[in-house]
Amino acid sequence: MVEGDAYVRQNILKILESAGFRAVGADSLAGGIDILDTEFVNLAIIDIKLPDASGFELMEYIKQAQPGVDAILLSAWGDVETATKAIEQGAYDFITKPFNVHHIVLAVQRAMEKRRLLLENRDLQASLEKKIREKALSLRLRNEEKLQHLNNTIMSLVQTLEAKDQYTEGHSRRVADTALRVAERLGLSRRAQEDIHLAGLFHDIGKIGIQESVLNKAGQLTPEEYEIIKKHVLIGVKILSQIPQFSRITPAVRSHHEFFDGSGYPDGVSGEEIPLGGRILAICDAYDAMTSNRSYRRKLSVDRACAILTRNRGTQFDPEIVPVFLRVIGYEEQAV
Ligand SMILES: [Fe+2]
Ligand SMILES: [Fe+2]
Repeated sequence: MVEGDAYVRQNILKILESAGFRAVGADSLAGGIDILDTEFVNLAIIDIKLPDASGFELMEYIKQAQPGVDAILLSAWGDVETATKAIEQGAYDFITKPFNVHHIVLAVQRAMEKRRLLLENRDLQASLEKKIREKALSLRLRNEEKLQHLNNTIMSLVQTLEAKDQYTEGHSRRVADTALRVAERLGLSRRAQEDIHLAGLFHDIGKIGIQESVLNKAGQLTPEEYEIIKKHVLIGVKILSQIPQFSRITPAVRSHHEFFDGSGYPDGVSGEEIPLGGRILAICDAYDAMTSNRSYRRKLSVDRACAILTRNRGTQFDPEIVPVFLRVIGYEEQAV
């Protein structure tokens, strides 16, 4: 309660106290600021004409220092202009002197009720925000857990595959590692690099669905058997498509046997229609296959394998990625 006239001030303080409020008084702008700086204030009652300033100045101070604290302004009777100005400046209410006790208590009660709702709302919002933050955190943890679980499952699938296909031990991991390095060298985003690494790990996962007699056959495959082997691509896509988190890597898995000139499988797409991940995997996959022992042949030398990659630039392999691959494996002399 900031009012220069001691009689009026004491009178209002008494009225408020007997109505059940705790009220403190000051006689000037400076005294009002003092109260605001030291007390928890819910509502200010300010006389428009203070001895050292205008009540509007104190209202401005409140707006800056304690936004959310309302002011009820007091002024001499009949001053319509000031009353209008007070409301325009954001005063909650306006009371003219001489005042009626009932009127002042009612105005204060209304303002305090508004204040109570505001604070309650603020608390509610804060606790709601806290709950949302906690929920988001636990969801994220649970998602991470799920993803980890999923990775473990797929890794055990990869291990199952490698146990089943004796000639592909370590193949998926080597392909994944070189593909990652090629992706790095190409300057792909962090996320794209991670996707290509995962796609490399899982590119042959569909071989789980191919019978071992065909998978491990010593010697050349018949055309029928070759058709069976080719199915591993779409079986792999089917396995991975069960898992929404892997939707980003299925295009690369699906296209790792496509040829740059369009003569590969399963879709026969060519050039840049082949997803970049698939074009990278195709090179890493072919190189690893050529430099490993297979059921039907002994491994080729690095020179031979690199010469074959270079020779098939533009037909089987992306002509721009082959030199990058050769650089990644440290075979730069052949890089064109
Ligand atoms: Fe494959
Ligand atoms: Fe492969």
